Amino acid sequence: MVPKVKTHNTPEDACREVADEIAELIEARRALGGMAVLGLATGGTPVRLYRELVRRHREEGLSFANVTTFNLDEYLGLTREHPESYWHFMHHHLFDHIDVPVERIHLPSGTVAEEEIDAHCAEYEEAIRAAGGIDHQILGIGRTGHIGFNEPGSAIDSRTRRVGLDGITREDAAAAFGGLEHVPTHAITMGCGTILEARRISLLAWGAKKAEIVKRAVKEPVDDRVSASFLQTHEAAVFHLDRDAASRLG
Ligand code: GLP
Repeated sequence: MVPKVKTHNTPEDACREVADEIAELIEARRALGGMAVLGLATGGTPVRLYRELVRRHREEGLSFANVTTFNLDEYLGLTREHPESYWHFMHHHLFDHIDVPVERIHLPSGTVAEEEIDAHCAEYEEAIRAAGGIDHQILGIGRTGHIGFNEPGSAIDSRTRRVGLDGITREDAAAAFGGLEHVPTHAITMGCGTILEARRISLLAWGAKKAEIVKRAVKEPVDDRVSASFLQTHEAAVFHLDRDAASRLG
């Protein structure tokens, strides 16, 4: 299946469109007295989207009071307060600036004891199910083609679990951590199967550095060496790209 690709003039244009979809979902659910369930991602890519959502909250009164969130992943070994934890990232860029109820924010724990990791992952899956499943999942893409932290070799039906991080992924994070030796070696991530159950998926990618891996995810056959290629099997997954990220699609 050829996945749907939307090429935008700028990342800001892409983020406005995805923010429109999120706002429509939230408002449609509110009109029915229901909740909207968002799956959220970290990394540099979605920062502009979060900025746009915060702007709409402040300037246009978009309320997140009926929103539940589930983040894709978290580094193992980092406390919430660590500046590179995804808990910290999400609060800094989004949660501290909107009115989403704190009890409806979910991220995997970075500090769960080794022997409790499996139970913690099962609980995360159960919480997603109990919330009614994810309505709209936001994704970035790593240089290894990962979505969440589903590194090459992750199965299409994998679930939330502990994973080892690829060397390339750790290298990409080294500057932020002040050296490769400080980058965690493991993480907890939603699985590819977990992600593919979202009713709608928006993968965002900007810049020439993402062009090659985007091409592999979109144009080459579905392959577990590139987790993002699994999106080809999803009915409502869209790759939102800027011109540079789309430059190798031909
Ligand atoms: C990390 C995250 C991914 C993210 C990727 C790309 O590995 N776990 O969710 O998509 O980085 O990051 P960036 O958006 O900074 O390029």
